[in-house]
Order: sequence, then C-alpha cells, then structure tokens
Amino acid sequence: MNSLINKVAIITGASSGIGRATALLFARNGAALVLGARRGDLLNQLVDEITQQGGRALAVVGDAKDESFAVAMVQTAIDHFGGLDIAFNNAGTLGEMGATPDISAAGWRDTLDVNLSSAFYAAKHQIPAMLARGSGTVIFTSSFVGYTLGFPGVAAYAASKSGLIGLTQALATEFGARGVRVNAILPGGTDTAMGQQMTSSPEALAHIQNLHALKRLAQPEEIAQSVLYLASDASSFMTGSAMLVDGGISISRT
Ligand SMILES: NC(=O)c1ccc[n+]([C@@H]2O[C@H](COP(=O)([O-])OP(=O)(O)OC[C@H]3O[C@@H](n4cnc5c(N)ncnc54)[C@H](OP(=O)(O)O)[C@@H]3O)[C@@H](O)[C@H]2O)c1
Repeated sequence: MNSLINKVAIITGASSGIGRATALLFARNGAALVLGARRGDLLNQLVDEITQQGGRALAVVGDAKDESFAVAMVQTAIDHFGGLDIAFNNAGTLGEMGATPDISAAGWRDTLDVNLSSAFYAAKHQIPAMLARGSGTVIFTSSFVGYTLGFPGVAAYAASKSGLIGLTQALATEFGARGVRVNAILPGGTDTAMGQQMTSSPEALAHIQNLHALKRLAQPEEIAQSVLYLASDASSFMTGSAMLVDGGISISRT
C-alpha cells in the first residue's frame, strides 16, 4: 500500500535532514526522484547513494525563493521521468529569530519567501503537471510551531508555517475533485541541522526534549515514514489535513 513504484516525486530541502531521509525512503519504495536544494555537493552525493542502491534520482540546484527553481524541478520530472505524481515541498529555514520588534523587515520577508512563497511557486507549477496525469499528492512541511504551540522568538517562522496550513486547505478544496490531494505534515522537534539550532546547549536540548510526551526528539527517518504515508495510496482519503507527527508536544503539559 505504501509502494511508490512507477511514481515520480519531487523533494525540496533534500540535501539534509527530513528531506534527505525521505528521499532515501521514497527511493527504496520505488519512486523516481527529482531532488532540490542549494548545496549541490550534498545533493550529488545523495543522487550517487540512491543510484548505487538501484534507484533513480536527479539533482536540481537552486533557491526555493525563486519561481524558476519550481519550474526547473517540474520540467526535470517531465523531461526525464515522464511526469509528476508526488511533491514533498519541504525546504525551510528558521530565518531571523529574536524578539519580534527586533526582526528586520528584510529578515521577515526572507523567511516568508523561503518557507511560504516557495510553496506557492511549487504548487503553482506542480499541480498542472499532476492534473495532466489525472492525479497527484502534494505535501508541505509545516510545524507545530504556529499551529498548536506558541514559541517566543520565531514570529516569522511561525507565521510562515501557519500560512502553509491555509495554503494546504485552499489547494485541497480547489483540486480534490480532480484527483489531487494536498496535506501538510507537522513534525515535532527533529534531530536535524535545524533542530540542532534550537538545541545548541545541553539545557536547551533537555528543555525541548521534555516538552514532548515522548521525552525525545524525532529522528528524520521517523518523519519520513509519515511523509511516505501521505505520498502513497495508503492515505487515499486524506486531503486538507494538518497531520501532527510531533511526539506529543502539542498535548503535553509536563
Ligand atoms: N527539525 C525540526 O525540529 C523541525 C520541526 C518542524 C518542522 N521542520 C521543518 O522541516 C523542514 C526540513 O528541515 P530539517 O529539520 O530537515 O532541517 P535541515 O536539515 O536544516 O534541512 C533544511 C533543508 O531546506 C533546504 N533549504 C533551506 N533554505 C533553502 C532555500 N532557500 N532554497 C532551497 N532549499 C533550502 C536546505 O538545503 P540547502 O541548505 O542545501 O539549500 C535543507 O535541505 C523545514 O521546512 C523545517 O521548517 C523541522
């Protein structure tokens, strides 16, 4: 049911963390992959790893803030693999952090551009390709931050991640009747480069771990399993969802 055989998938933010783990899992489940991020060296290493394991993957180096990156990702999927079935729009940044009055307008805009406008550009170009195929599934990486939990010092990040849920709902209602499902995944604290930015001291790590009911961070491979579920026919009746995969951080009060 989780098989992605004969499916073509785009993954952004594939050079590390959740995106990288998802790429490896999707490849093991049979998908042909178009992998995007800015760090081409890391993307090329991942493409080599997948190819050596018998999978199919191509890298597109670019900045998710640019609409041309979204166009190039979709065009690569069509030109090399014949179309597009799945898009995991996962690239993200914490952006400029600090007390909200101290956040610069440029920092605010940059965070919204990387996390939210990128998702709009992605969907704008991915959905027509999916409609041409007659079906598709789009997944955005949102967060519990800005949804079930307020967090001080990350206003731009929270606003952008919250905005992704609105985009998810709008797209799900626009394209559900034509076979395209759209969902957001909301990971809890995850042990990636971004997660480590929030847990740089032993005290900060202990604090963040303790916020979760499971009293630990997720490994990126655990989040990838839920992305696979949303990407596959196993989730065929899910659309418009904000799916928490958060170790219970949203319901824990201890
Ligand atoms: N870690 C957590 O605790 C956590 C919790 C909830 C949600 N999330 C979300 O999960 C997603 C993945 O993050 P992660 O935790 O896996 O952290 P990560 O390892 O730092 O990965 C972030 C990815 O986004 C890419 N990226 C960042 N800015 C980009 C840009 N302007 N253009 C293209 N790609 C860009 C990075 O690639 P390049 O640097 O090579 O461009 C990298 O591949 C993010 O959207 C994040 O907000 C993370």
